[in-house]
Amino acid sequence: MDQTDERPAPAPPCTLVIFGAAGDLTKRLLMPALYNLAGGGLLDEGFKILGVDHNDKSDEDLRTELTETMDSFARDRTGEFHPDHIDPKVWGFVRERIRFLKGDFEDPAAYEALAEAVSGNVVFYLAVAARFFGPVVDGLGGAGLLKETDGAFRRVVIEKPFGSDLASAKALNARILRQGEESQFYRIDHFLGKETVQSILAIRFANGMLEPVWRAEHVDHVEITAAETIGVEGRGAFYEATGALRDMVPNHLVQIFSMIAMEPPASLDAEDVRDAKAAVVKAVRPVPPEDAVRGQYAAGSEQGQAVKGYREEPHVAPESHTETYAALKLAVDTPRWRGVPFYLRTGKRLGRRLTEAAVHFKPSPTGLFPDLGEARGPHGNVMRLTIDPEQGIHTGFNVKRPGPRMRIAPVETAFYYGDAFEEAPSVGYETLLYDCMIGDPTLFQRADQIEAGWAAVEPLLRAWTEGPAEPYAAGSSGPKGADALLAREGHRWLPLEE
Ligand code: BG6
Repeated sequence: MDQTDERPAPAPPCTLVIFGAAGDLTKRLLMPALYNLAGGGLLDEGFKILGVDHNDKSDEDLRTELTETMDSFARDRTGEFHPDHIDPKVWGFVRERIRFLKGDFEDPAAYEALAEAVSGNVVFYLAVAARFFGPVVDGLGGAGLLKETDGAFRRVVIEKPFGSDLASAKALNARILRQGEESQFYRIDHFLGKETVQSILAIRFANGMLEPVWRAEHVDHVEITAAETIGVEGRGAFYEATGALRDMVPNHLVQIFSMIAMEPPASLDAEDVRDAKAAVVKAVRPVPPEDAVRGQYAAGSEQGQAVKGYREEPHVAPESHTETYAALKLAVDTPRWRGVPFYLRTGKRLGRRLTEAAVHFKPSPTGLFPDLGEARGPHGNVMRLTIDPEQGIHTGFNVKRPGPRMRIAPVETAFYYGDAFEEAPSVGYETLLYDCMIGDPTLFQRADQIEAGWAAVEPLLRAWTEGPAEPYAAGSSGPKGADALLAREGHRWLPLEE
């Protein structure tokens, strides 16, 4: 991890081969990220893009299609990428570097053609459905495209979902590692591209006032939330087979958890950081079904608008048991965290969009304020690291309420990244793409961490194949069972309804 203040240099020249060039991810995130990187001067003159997909089109067709979607982002400003306008010079830099190659992902001939089309440094980006991850890596390996010769690098970026349980994740790791070295594979988790997630490391380990108290002696419990207001957004078919647990927990929530809970790494080198993260995920006890709750949204209202229940969504079975909400308690077997519950929750169609980690501290040991009254509520003595939609830190602490008696009141100080720093335009993929091009895997998931994440939730995957999920009204804060899970130990979720 680079710690200098200097402006980063452009990444070395390379070809970015995008499998799934006509797909949604390429249009919505990869092209905007490349545009932002080009705008920041972070792409080399020798940078090239080769899109691969199965339909017929020319280089110019792909360039035109991608230009149209880029232009549409400047008109419809509701997505992740909403520039005032597309700078023709910056987009021109990206556009003129785009070429297209028609190829069937499962046909060895496609890889022979690809081998003719590329040389030197190559990043292969698998922006394809998960069922193609194995076949594409086999194809690349079979055509000798993963051999790193003459000092050139060959790297493969793999999107999520990486497996659908422990066995399939292990099988996929074994399959890809037959074709290349671990160091060549960059397994993406886009939560690690979020600045505030990356900053957890700095907040914890660069502050002498926090580091010593970040442990069981002083921390009572931790909440990690990824709440969304959107429903399944036309992805019913994908979601039916996936559910909230697989979609969000062993990957995104476990990533946040590992940043909050890891031991200090030996250094900021990628492998030291990844060792420390993997170690804490391996220390999580497999979650017993009684420590977890699943829910499914029923009809309700979201920001004053009536919305359908999950079972009424397109491509969803009318009696579906798929969960759209999951809450669980993690127990961590390390001296630092033994006895401290980590509560994780995620869901769609909740009362508010909020991604954050909230660290609740133990009451002051002085015993001078045994009855904190309102300050005992959820807001005093807690530090919230907020990731979305705001990026910042909220610290809730207790003060004396002005007046003649000693009465305690909880107050909050807030820090917002946007107030302190000029933020570079970002869709969250810029750092990840740049890091892959410069060969820094710190923000990517190693095989062992992915497998440890799946191992932690394995008992739930098995238990949740049967029986219904508890309904919750769209726009609420989730199923009642999730409140009961925390109430067992006298805890309470921070509120999700405004
Ligand atoms: C994706 C999930 O990985 O993350 C989606 O598949 C989810 O279901 C999304 O909506 C959430 O990401 P973000 O960055 O919008 O919080």
